Amino acid sequence: MLLVLLSLVAMYRIALPGEPTIQCGSEPGPSPEWMVQHNLTPGDLRSLQVELVQTCSKKDCKKEDFSILMNISWILRADASIRLLKATKICVTGKSNMESYSCVRCNYTEPFQRQTRPSGGRWTFSYVGFPVELSTVYFIGAHNIPNANMNEDSPSLSVNFTSPGCLNSVMKYKKRCIEAGSLWDPNITACKKNKMTVEVNFTTSSLGERYGVIILQNERTLNFSQVEEHQNKPTRRSVAISVGEESEGTEFELIPYFHLCEPDCIRRKGPVGLCIETSGPYPPDNKRTMLGGWVPLILVLLVATWVLAVGIYLTRRQGRSTETSFPATSMLLPLIKVLVVYPAEVCFHHTVCRFTDFLQNHCRSEVILEKWQRKRIAEMGPVQWLSAQKQAADKVVFLLSSDAHGLCSSACGPNTGSASEKAQDLFPLAFNLFCSDFSTQAHLHKYMVVCLGGADIKGDYNALSVCPQYRLMKDATAFHTELLKAPRNVTVKKRSQACRGSCPPL
Ligand SMILES: *[C@@H]1O[C@H](CO)[C@@H](O)[C@H](O)[C@H]1NC(C)=O
Ligand SMILES: *[C@@H]1O[C@H](CO)[C@@H](O)[C@H](O)[C@H]1NC(C)=O
Ligand SMILES: *[C@@H]1O[C@H](CO)[C@@H](O)[C@H](O)[C@H]1NC(C)=O
Ligand SMILES: *[C@@H]1O[C@H](CO)[C@@H](O)[C@H](O)[C@H]1NC(C)=O
Ligand SMILES: *[C@@H]1O[C@H](CO)[C@@H](O)[C@H](O)[C@H]1NC(C)=O
Ligand SMILES: *[C@@H]1O[C@H](CO)[C@@H](O)[C@H](O)[C@H]1NC(C)=O
Repeated sequence: MLLVLLSLVAMYRIALPGEPTIQCGSEPGPSPEWMVQHNLTPGDLRSLQVELVQTCSKKDCKKEDFSILMNISWILRADASIRLLKATKICVTGKSNMESYSCVRCNYTEPFQRQTRPSGGRWTFSYVGFPVELSTVYFIGAHNIPNANMNEDSPSLSVNFTSPGCLNSVMKYKKRCIEAGSLWDPNITACKKNKMTVEVNFTTSSLGERYGVIILQNERTLNFSQVEEHQNKPTRRSVAISVGEESEGTEFELIPYFHLCEPDCIRRKGPVGLCIETSGPYPPDNKRTMLGGWVPLILVLLVATWVLAVGIYLTRRQGRSTETSFPATSMLLPLIKVLVVYPAEVCFHHTVCRFTDFLQNHCRSEVILEKWQRKRIAEMGPVQWLSAQKQAADKVVFLLSSDAHGLCSSACGPNTGSASEKAQDLFPLAFNLFCSDFSTQAHLHKYMVVCLGGADIKGDYNALSVCPQYRLMKDATAFHTELLKAPRNVTVKKRSQACRGSCPPL
């Protein structure tokens, strides 16, 4: 009886006059009110907010069945114009290469009688909808209806929202992320086992059989190992990688090669610690006097400084010979990932393809080209794509060619002509996006400028002149050496200061 009464009260509360709720439906075109002249219109919204929610229409929802939607909530302004308010319209534009646009209209079920809720708070509503894609910029605008007349200012409120990528706690349940390994917990431990060896333990995934483990220092690969695991269940694996005596700031990177995402599966990276078992050659001894405790330490420090000094001297001296012997050891190392960006006018087949061949066949490189990843660019948006590739790439090459004008068009053939029309010119975007890196030594090493056929850095792209430049094929050897060399060995010219001024605003 009490229950029935309670539910009656609940129903009454929902239908209480003066407490409007919303009814929302798609309205892609202009609202009917737009065609009519209104003497008075409601004001704008007080605030607009967007957050992610997982929802599921099924009863027993598995994590993979969730869809990820926006929860858009808004607060109405507490003023007299609220009496005129009939509906609020929300439109969402998704900005990746394929622009998406859709609108929803939420009608208020009752006219507003009061500026605030009967309970005293502001009128707040929320709508859950608009599916969210990975790493996409959304532009969300909302306005009240009836909207302002045609030539008047139409009050509206907008917010931007960038959806996160696969490692986000909500996004990781998207199918594409799961396939890329977002739910895989490799539970990595990476530690320096002794002077020369890093031990990396991790749990494999049933998504794939092949793994690469890289030990890095200052983004330079020290050594690399491959792991294969053919049991179809997660298994704990341990690899020992010899790295020489370097220990400052070493990092590991675990690269899975899963069937569905290869080679763009989610990589895991982290610092290499010291193994706990090898707690050091000096067990603590409390019985020693302070002095007795310090003397060996000072001796050790002196010896270490001496070893370091000799080490640096020898490394400097042997710089040349290490360089030449590098190609031999490098057979063990992974390919060098090179992102190549080129202006749209450059002849693709004749120039870009030939350069790519050169990289792949003579420089042990894996080339990333915009032309080969159109679909991914469309999915991610060019800015996100470029940022992701920059992260992934070991080197970024700006390719300039003098075949840019006229000369090329006849040689390129008809198919290239039409393709380059469709192609988005990522060159200026890449230049603008990466330009801020040119002013810091730590980042500059990643970039190279390659000039073909007497091309030169010109006009808008002057800031590129701080990057090492190579004229091919004249500088082929230097280019080859630079590409294979440790990034940290790049000498940065003082001109990097001058770059700051010449970087155009993004
Ligand atoms: C909202 O109101 C408009 C105009 O009265 C009507 O055309 C539309 O169908 C309504 N939408 C919903 C979801 O009720
Ligand atoms: C949406 O956001 C509003 C305001 O933050 C909140 O009250 C509501 O519970 C959220 N809805 C869902 C389904 O999470
Ligand atoms: C949203 O992004 C667009 C395009 O990037 C920009 O023009 C606009 O100023 C941004 N708006 C807000 C509210 O941040
Ligand atoms: C991760 O590995 C450690 C050491 O092997 C183990 O103790 C721990 O339980 C593991 N954690 C998970 C979540 O599997
Ligand atoms: C890694 O695995 C090896 C071999 O199973 C084991 O001896 C070692 O203790 C593990 N290291 C850590 C840090 O868990
Ligand atoms: C890399 O590891 C292999 C195999 O463990 C070893 O033979 C080689 O010397 C290592 N290279 C370096 C540069 O430490």
